[in-house]
Amino acid sequence: MSTPHIDAEAGAFASTVLLPGDPLRARHIAERFFSDAVQVTSARNMFGYTGTYRGQRVSVMGTGMGIPSSSIYATELIRHYGVKRLVRVGTCGAVQDDLALGDLVLALSASTDSAVNRQRFAGMDFGAGASYPLLRAVADQAERVGVPVRVGNVFSADLFYSPRPDMADTLAAMGILAVEMEAAGLYGLAAEFGAEALAVLTVSDHLRHDAHMDVHQRQTGVDAMTELTLDALCQQPSK
Ligand code: HPA
Repeated sequence: MSTPHIDAEAGAFASTVLLPGDPLRARHIAERFFSDAVQVTSARNMFGYTGTYRGQRVSVMGTGMGIPSSSIYATELIRHYGVKRLVRVGTCGAVQDDLALGDLVLALSASTDSAVNRQRFAGMDFGAGASYPLLRAVADQAERVGVPVRVGNVFSADLFYSPRPDMADTLAAMGILAVEMEAAGLYGLAAEFGAEALAVLTVSDHLRHDAHMDVHQRQTGVDAMTELTLDALCQQPSK
C-alpha cells in the first residue's frame, strides 16, 4: 500500500512515531538510537524509519515545517498506518525571559494564529492540548534523570518571519513559553482522530534576546531531548 505522501507497506510503522521536522534528523535519530532500523518511506525525501529502542518497536519520520506539511504526514500515519502516539521532537524560539538556549519545553497546550482547528471545530476556538499520559511520561522521566523541564502553553505560528515586531512581547505577556510551528495542528488532529500527541521542544533561539544556538549546540540539544523522550515512551507499553 501507499498513501499520497508515504510509500510504506501496511504495518510498516510502530504505534508510536517520533516526528522531527527535518527528514535528515529522522535519519539521524534512527541511525543513532534505533536497533535494526529499516527505512520504510522516502517519498519526497521525507524519510521514515522503524526500529526498536529498549526492545520496543518505534518509528521516526520527518514532517517538514509548519502545520500544513506536518498535518499531511500525521493524518496519513494515523488513518492509513494505525499510528496512535505522535510525538513531535523539535526546536522552538523562547519568548519568556527566564528561558535559556538548551532548555526543554513540554507543550501542555498550543495557541496559534492558524485556522486549522477552527475548520475542524465548526468555527469555534479549540483548546489544543497534549495527551496527559504522554506529557506525564516525559515529565516523569525528566525528573528521574534530573533534567529541568518547563511545561506550558506554546504558540504554533504560521509565519516564521512575522511582520509584527511586537509579536514576541504579545505572546510573552500572555504567558506563552515559546514559538514553534506545528503543535497546535498536531493536537487538533489527535483530537479529531482519537490519537495521542505531544510536542517536546528544545529552545534553539530566544526571540526577545536575539540568541541562537549554533549547529553543534542544536545537534547536541536535540539528541539529549530525543533520548529523554525515547526513554520515557519506551517505559510505557504502547497501545
Ligand atoms: N519561530 C518559529 N519556530 C521556531 C523558532 C522560531 O523562532 N525557532 C525554532 N523553531
